[in-house]
Formats: sequence, structure tokens, C-alpha cells
Amino acid sequence: MKIRLQRFLANAGVASRRASEKIILSGRVQVNGRIVRELGFKIDPDVDEIKVDGKICHEEQRHIYIMMNKPAGVVTTVKDPFGRPTVIDIIKGLKERVYPVGRLDMDTEGLLILTNDGEVTYRLTHPKHEVEKTYLAHVKGMVTRRQILMLEMGIKLEDGLTAPAKVRIVKRIGDSTVLEIKIHEGKKRQVRRMCSAIGNPVIHLKRTHIGNLSLNNLKPGQWRFMTAKEIEYIKNL
Ligand code: URA
Repeated sequence: MKIRLQRFLANAGVASRRASEKIILSGRVQVNGRIVRELGFKIDPDVDEIKVDGKICHEEQRHIYIMMNKPAGVVTTVKDPFGRPTVIDIIKGLKERVYPVGRLDMDTEGLLILTNDGEVTYRLTHPKHEVEKTYLAHVKGMVTRRQILMLEMGIKLEDGLTAPAKVRIVKRIGDSTVLEIKIHEGKKRQVRRMCSAIGNPVIHLKRTHIGNLSLNNLKPGQWRFMTAKEIEYIKNL
């Protein structure tokens, strides 16, 4: 069966589907010895020979799905040009190559999925699927009902208005507040920028849920393979 080149690369665990598109556009991919830069290009994995940077790629058979509680101080990339610790360093020893699904800032902790299933990565990160993510944001100051409403209705950031969010006060600690914030988008440092915009900068940020998936008692720096039920859930999001 013929499939698009970027889908093949994602299935082969080369990179996420979107990152694979960039790899194709940059001329690093050869099909039967010829460089292909065309995104819709279709190949037959059983017949065609695909190379990335001169190395032959095969579709990976076994898909791996990992849930991690990313600790603060670790970057969500496979390799960091500045040599900082990455989420991949945490799962050292695993022989399959996996990739983080979406991003958490270096200073943010919490739920992160890693997989070599390009299809799942694509679905979970594509804006049209709008998967809800829940954050616990410990912020400076006493957040008021009016400010909650501002967060819920949308905040004007440099890169546009944020989509409606669900926000509630979890507790007050002295003159600071812990908020639960549910958003569907993934603008860069979105929760931090939303909180700063209402005058309550984030002290500590943690992602607790992706859709219904929850960290439960996974401690920062710990990871585990996802259960069959969890995998089925993310495949159907
Ligand atoms: N919002 C942020 O500000 N940071 C994250 O890592 C995720 C959401």
C-alpha cells in the first residue's frame, strides 16, 4: 500500500510527522536514490528504498508509549545543542527511539508522553484535535474572580488571543494562589504568559493531565510504559 513519505518517516521513528516534513523539505530524504522534496510524495514501503541522510529506514514494528513526569530543569528535546539534560536522558537504556509528544518548558514539570508512533504524535499535537491539557499553576498574588474571568475569556498575547480556558482556584497559600487551568492550545509558554498578563506571574507550573490521562503517583523524574487502556484512549482522541 502506498503512503505519504512524511507518514512513512514518522512510522519509521525518524521524527514526528511535522518534523519529518521539514526533513523532506531540506532535501535529506532519498527515494530509490533520488532526492525527494515533495511533501505529498507517495511511496510503497514494501517496494521502495528510503534513505535519510544516506541511511536506510525501515518501518518500526513495535510501538512504544511512555508516560513521564518530567522534572523541572530538563529540556523536552531529543538532543540539546547546549548540552543540558533532556527527557531522553531520563529513559536511557530503552533500545527503541522515542520522541516527546509536544513540549513542556524547561522549568515546567509534569505529564509528558513519549512514543515512536508518529500517528499518535500527529493526532495529539495537531490543533484541530484540541486535546485538553490541565495545569496546576502556583502564581504570585491573590487572584480575583475578575482575573479568573479574564483568563477564561481569552488573553491577548503577542501572538494572538488565547482560546477560552477553564480556570478555578484550588487554594490560597499566604499571598499566592494555586490555579487549575485547562487549555486546548499549545502556544509557547502559554500558561506562564497568561498568568503574567493578569499580573500574577507563575512560581511553579505542573501539567497534571492530557485529556483524561493523569500522572497519578508518578514522581518527577519517574516514567512508565502506558497501559493498554491508556494507549487505546490516546489512539482514539
Ligand atoms: N504553558 C507554559 O507556560 N509552559 C508549559 O510548559 C506548558 C504550558
